[in-house]
Amino acid sequence: MAPWYIDLIERAFVNIQIKPIVKGLLTFVPGLREWFSRKRTGGTNRAEYCYEVWLKHLTMASAHGLERIPGTVAELGPGDSLGIGLAAALSGANRYYALDVVEYSSVESNLRIFDELVDMFKRRAPRPPTGWPDYDEYLDEGLFPSHILTPDILRVSLSTERLEEIRKVLADPGYHSDSISIRYSVPWANDDIIEDGSVDFIFSQSVIEHIDDLDTTYKALYKWLCPGGMMSHQIDLGAHRLSGKWNGYRAYSEGIWKIIVGTRPYLINRQPRSTHIRSIREAGLDLVCDLKRSTPEKGIERSQLSSRWKDISDDDLACSDMFVQAKKTRTR
Ligand SMILES: C[S@@+](CC[C@H](N)C(=O)[O-])C[C@H]1O[C@@H](n2cnc3c(N)ncnc32)[C@H](O)[C@@H]1O
Repeated sequence: MAPWYIDLIERAFVNIQIKPIVKGLLTFVPGLREWFSRKRTGGTNRAEYCYEVWLKHLTMASAHGLERIPGTVAELGPGDSLGIGLAAALSGANRYYALDVVEYSSVESNLRIFDELVDMFKRRAPRPPTGWPDYDEYLDEGLFPSHILTPDILRVSLSTERLEEIRKVLADPGYHSDSISIRYSVPWANDDIIEDGSVDFIFSQSVIEHIDDLDTTYKALYKWLCPGGMMSHQIDLGAHRLSGKWNGYRAYSEGIWKIIVGTRPYLINRQPRSTHIRSIREAGLDLVCDLKRSTPEKGIERSQLSSRWKDISDDDLACSDMFVQAKKTRTR
């Protein structure tokens, strides 16, 4: 029979991957932190992706109480380009705030994505292949939300003068436009960055799982929204390649986790769905859509959880993705 400590060692290391630990350690080496944070995020470097993500958030929001095309939108964590926000602008939004912690997006990538998006909106292109959640029931036969983006709305939002104006604003951050505003703030440090009660719609795609202080963030979103304003977030609770199993990051001890995080500007917060829901409610927002998904991939067993997560509910342990929309119906 194997000595008793073999079982202990196996339990401690069986779920631990060496690569994220080495990467975390490397971030302490001067110069390498910058190298790690300069890496691309993927996703918004493709116009098709930006188009699909925007159509999803817009269509789902319309199905859950968004009454008109939002005039002012804000996005957390746009990543490689401002493409999702540009899709919002091409749908009629005149003011767009993009808040990130690393400057990934550039004038060149934004202009390239913008031109491709214009073409897709003009063609009312069907939504590109998508993952979860499925929102096809709200689309027309051509897989386009024509009940929201009506011909009348698109005639105005895609007018030649408006497209030229958006392009000018994108090409020259110093150019002042009376009709279009695009503000990219990196890093954003506090909730003064946007005027209270001024935003109609706030969204994010695969971002909030990276934000450490959820309570402060959801409170800021509440503050920025106008009365009746909505927010929409897709949150990926998966491993982000930090563990072999999709929820294996909950097997790491707090000490190992600190090493993995290293000095990176962000990693993942490991918070389960119920923490997001509680925090959204405590910020004063009312949930209007609350979807969850469990990946068919095998996760870790309850017995493999580190002490921090040992009391996690079965629901939270199984939830790999969430899509949540909430409204500011109450003012404080
Ligand atoms: C996985 S990428 C997603 C990028 C983009 N939304 C997409 O769908 O491709 C995560 C993004 O969240 C950003 N991020 C991390 N922490 C953030 C924070 N506290 N506030 C805003 N953005 C943040 C990262 O810089 C990065 O751009």
